[in-house]
Amino acid sequence: MSVVFNFIYVFIIISCNVVAQSHPDQFLQCIESHNSNSISKVIYTPKNTSYTSKFLSSIQNIRFISPSMPKPSYIVTPVTESQIQAAVICSKANRLQIRVRCGGHDYEGLSYSSKVPFVLIDLINLRSIKIDTKNRVAWVQGGVLIGNLSYQIAKISPNLAFPAGLCPTVGVGGHFSGGGYGTLFRKYGLAADNVLDARIVNVNGQILDRKSMGEDLFWAIRGGGAASFGVITSWKIKLVEVPDIVTVFTINKTLEQNATDLVHRWQQIAYKFDRDLFVRILITRVNHTVQASFNSVFLGKIDKLVPLMQESFPELGLVREDCMERKWIEAILYFSDLPFGSSLDDLTKRNPNPRTYYKAKSDFVKDPIPKFALEKLWEFFKEDEAKDAQLILAPYGGRMSEISESEIPFPHRRGNLYEIQHLVYWDKEENKESQKYINWIRRLYKYITPFVSKNPRAAYLNYRDLDLGINNIEGNTSYAKASVWGNKYFKNNFKRLVQVKTKVDPSNFFRNEQSIPIFLS
Ligand SMILES: Cc1cc2nc3c(=O)[nH]c(=O)nc-3n(C[C@H](O)[C@H](O)[C@H](O)COP(=O)(O)OP(=O)(O)OC[C@H]3O[C@@H](n4cnc5c(N)ncnc54)[C@H](O)[C@@H]3O)c2cc1C
Ligand SMILES: *[C@@H]1O[C@H](CO)[C@@H](O)[C@H](O)[C@H]1NC(C)=O
Ligand SMILES: *[C@@H]1O[C@H](CO)[C@@H](O)[C@H](O)[C@H]1NC(C)=O
Ligand SMILES: *[C@@H]1O[C@H](CO)[C@@H](O)[C@H](O)[C@H]1NC(C)=O
Ligand SMILES: *[C@@H]1O[C@H](CO)[C@@H](O)[C@H](O)[C@H]1NC(C)=O
Ligand SMILES: *[C@@H]1O[C@H](CO)[C@@H](O)[C@H](O)[C@H]1NC(C)=O
Ligand SMILES: *[C@@H]1O[C@H](CO)[C@@H](O)[C@H](O)[C@H]1NC(C)=O
Repeated sequence: MSVVFNFIYVFIIISCNVVAQSHPDQFLQCIESHNSNSISKVIYTPKNTSYTSKFLSSIQNIRFISPSMPKPSYIVTPVTESQIQAAVICSKANRLQIRVRCGGHDYEGLSYSSKVPFVLIDLINLRSIKIDTKNRVAWVQGGVLIGNLSYQIAKISPNLAFPAGLCPTVGVGGHFSGGGYGTLFRKYGLAADNVLDARIVNVNGQILDRKSMGEDLFWAIRGGGAASFGVITSWKIKLVEVPDIVTVFTINKTLEQNATDLVHRWQQIAYKFDRDLFVRILITRVNHTVQASFNSVFLGKIDKLVPLMQESFPELGLVREDCMERKWIEAILYFSDLPFGSSLDDLTKRNPNPRTYYKAKSDFVKDPIPKFALEKLWEFFKEDEAKDAQLILAPYGGRMSEISESEIPFPHRRGNLYEIQHLVYWDKEENKESQKYINWIRRLYKYITPFVSKNPRAAYLNYRDLDLGINNIEGNTSYAKASVWGNKYFKNNFKRLVQVKTKVDPSNFFRNEQSIPIFLS
């Protein structure tokens, strides 16, 4: 009882403090006493002139930067692990929550917003990448972005790579700890499948590595989302092999060019393709029709790809002229969302893209969606709200089918033909109508229910969707309530995640709207 009272009391005091900042600052005093090593140079309060630019620096979804969104009481941009330790200890002592930000790509803005007073630990300064080509491993710090990671690996060896996602500004903190897939995942699995070790600051401010954290916690942070367990300061990853030359192509087909038949066929075969061949589909509206864009990379040359496609997917009609041979790193640029004409150097940049408003959802498909249902799905793309909407269909199979569902918390393995990401974007002028776009994607999601996975209707953590359910802000969410969304992201692994969480963070300090809850006793 007194704990609850105390919490509410401190909550009110701190809320006022955020505005006034007039009382002696206990958080700052604490942090200086724990880490005198010029820590004040990496702490920003709303009074510092660069506070706002630091806050905005890596936010991707501008849906979450309206003036009414709560801002952090402090932003800490640590340059050492010990500064993270101090930030954790002092946040806890002052009953502030923590949000940790790496690339800032969280779909629901959970890495930089919170309804209760909080400290933002932004890992922007922790970006070292140490590559050991002999042992084919690398240590990457918790603030590294995946574009720079690929670039630095390719610079040292064009035949080495890491199987991560496509957007270069995605951060390793959220991405690896939530799974992380890209064009190599049918061959090598997820980013999280290729993590060998990690360093984490736990709730007591201790730094643990794989050995000292133990296999349960090490399991949990590879797919269960690190935000529930601590602050990852670095990952050790296994590098994989890619050939000197790969081949990329994109073939666009509109409805008038048989897109429906081709998508229907693709569903039945893409998961069985050679694992060197990745062919995804992007569905968009183009000139009052719907276009399916078959977007591919093959780990080999054109001479091998053309006959392979003739054998695996002749209906698409791929010819040599559609294909381009590239170095691996050039293929990464091809798949990135960087504007046409970008250079390889642009892969290392933090924020080259215009930001937008968006809402996304995810689904897994286990049986091909019938043609009539695809045709009805296309109807959604004729609505006004779908001007900048997109479905991304990513083929499973290959290595993904070999890894067991419980190997790491990410459970979506054998039996999935493909994953769909449903996305809708809108721009500033349309901001007042955000709800219209959000409703559009909710209607589409409802429509497609009969054709996607059931019991649970699975979802991908890294495409976070708060429509699936949220925790009580007090931290006392029951297991039953949280399993509604937990089972979708983690299936049977959810229970083990709750067990690990209860063991390593029994006071539920590291929490957010969709963090792993503890068992309430
Ligand atoms: C444009 C775009 C393209 C994408 N493409 C892909 C793709 O191809 N494949 C794919 O799998 N996913 C993709 N994603 C999804 C992406 O994997 C997730 O959004 C991921 O969580 C982003 O990680 P981040 O570090 O950039 O985000 P952040 O917003 O910084 O973090 C996301 C979550 O992780 C936590 N976190 C971050 N760093 C740490 C840390 N060091 N320690 C503890 N917790 C931490 C945050 O607190 C938050 O809960 C894409 C997202 C976007 C916006
Ligand atoms: C923010 O302002 C305080 C008080 O003026 C100062 O001590 C601190 O160094 C500033 N922080 C940064 C990162 O400049
Ligand atoms: C890219 O990585 C290199 C090597 O670790 C680092 O020095 C550089 O600061 C990084 N760039 C960005 C923008 O993060
Ligand atoms: C495919 O369509 C996209 C989007 O309309 C376009 O940007 C791209 O240039 C097209 N590619 C080819 C090869 O036609
Ligand atoms: C569309 O597919 C049908 C049957 O699969 C085929 O007969 C027809 O020629 C195709 N049309 C185009 C434009 O490819
Ligand atoms: C869409 O219209 C533009 C302009 O008329 C044209 O250049 C383009 O080829 C069209 N795209 C498709 C896929 O029909
Ligand atoms: C959680 O705690 C709050 C505040 O103490 C209380 O109002 C609420 O009923 C609790 N919820 C559950 C599920 O216990």
